[in-house]
Amino acid sequence: MDKIKLGNTDYRISNMGLGTMYFGSKVDEKVSFSLLDFYVEHGGTFLDSANKYASWIPGYDGGESEAIIGKWMQMRQNRHDLFLSSKVGFAYGDVPRSLKKEIIVSECEKSLKRLKTDCIDLYFAHADDMETPLEDVMSTFQTLKQQGKIRFAGASNFNSWRLAEANSKAKQQGWEGFCCLQQRHTLLEPSLRANFGTQQVLTPEMEQYCGINNVTMMAYSPLLGGAYLNGFQQLPIHYQNKSSESKLLVLNQIANYQNVSVNAILLAWMIQSKPGIIPMVTGSTVLQLSENFKALGITLSVEQMEMLNKDVAVPNKY
Ligand SMILES: NC(=O)c1ccc[n+]([C@@H]2O[C@H](COP(=O)([O-])OP(=O)(O)OC[C@H]3O[C@@H](n4cnc5c(N)ncnc54)[C@H](OP(=O)(O)O)[C@@H]3O)[C@@H](O)[C@H]2O)c1
Repeated sequence: MDKIKLGNTDYRISNMGLGTMYFGSKVDEKVSFSLLDFYVEHGGTFLDSANKYASWIPGYDGGESEAIIGKWMQMRQNRHDLFLSSKVGFAYGDVPRSLKKEIIVSECEKSLKRLKTDCIDLYFAHADDMETPLEDVMSTFQTLKQQGKIRFAGASNFNSWRLAEANSKAKQQGWEGFCCLQQRHTLLEPSLRANFGTQQVLTPEMEQYCGINNVTMMAYSPLLGGAYLNGFQQLPIHYQNKSSESKLLVLNQIANYQNVSVNAILLAWMIQSKPGIIPMVTGSTVLQLSENFKALGITLSVEQMEMLNKDVAVPNKY
């Protein structure tokens, strides 16, 4: 697995992160450990988690994903080979949705404990908080960095103008600000004004902002929960539009030509985009993950990338 530069930092991270949202809840400990092992055996180092994973699954309170990672790292003695991300800001249990200093600080302590580490490599504001001044938010992340409790800060589910404002306020103080942005993103474009609730889509203007300012882009839910494999009718409703029909056709043509799944092709497309976008990849079995990881062995031609970047299907070629 290759590495790419993280924002304007001197650090390089894996170009495919492992999404661990359901580890320790829907995905039991044994399978979670196999997925983690599989990922590191393929050279991956970037594990993506959050404080609230997966509190919305009946019978779970949140913190399960971090706790599984902590336990696994302790058993494998490999903390120093890994790059860990976690997140704060959404509500779960009795924790309100907020980026107030006291919430960030206390949630960071809880995450450190569950992860059994003394530093979170990448700590995300999981969602924006319009009620807490951005100066205060950036100052809290900066303090955690100075204390060595986090290494880098990232934004997730932010609007581009708020991200720009946060980073310009940080810059005025001589701080690094948010080095990356993690948004909902896949090959298919959601319909205009599609509403994903608290989730924010990576828009073309965000891509432009991030590209110009060296903010690394990361994509969550790249595989639409596996829906690409089941054809147009099974896509989430916000993705059932004209453009998706032709993009799916192109995707399937290229997948057949390369003899891999559509998931592998779309992940390869994302990684090979310029600038590269880091997908948070996951699966509920090692078999799924191994199918998705075929993306790592694929080099899409310039022509194939162009076809995937536009809406028009070219029949009979691939
Ligand atoms: N920042 C945020 O707000 C945010 C939000 C959501 C997620 N995330 C991060 O992004 C990661 C990925 O999110 P996601 O789970 O929504 O991603 P996704 O790519 O949309 O869906 C992953 C799911 O697709 C199915 N799948 C994967 N590979 C498959 C294959 N080869 N064949 C058939 N089905 C396959 C599996 O579902 P089944 O279990 O049904 O088989 C798997 O759990 C999370 O773990 C988390 O780290 C971040």
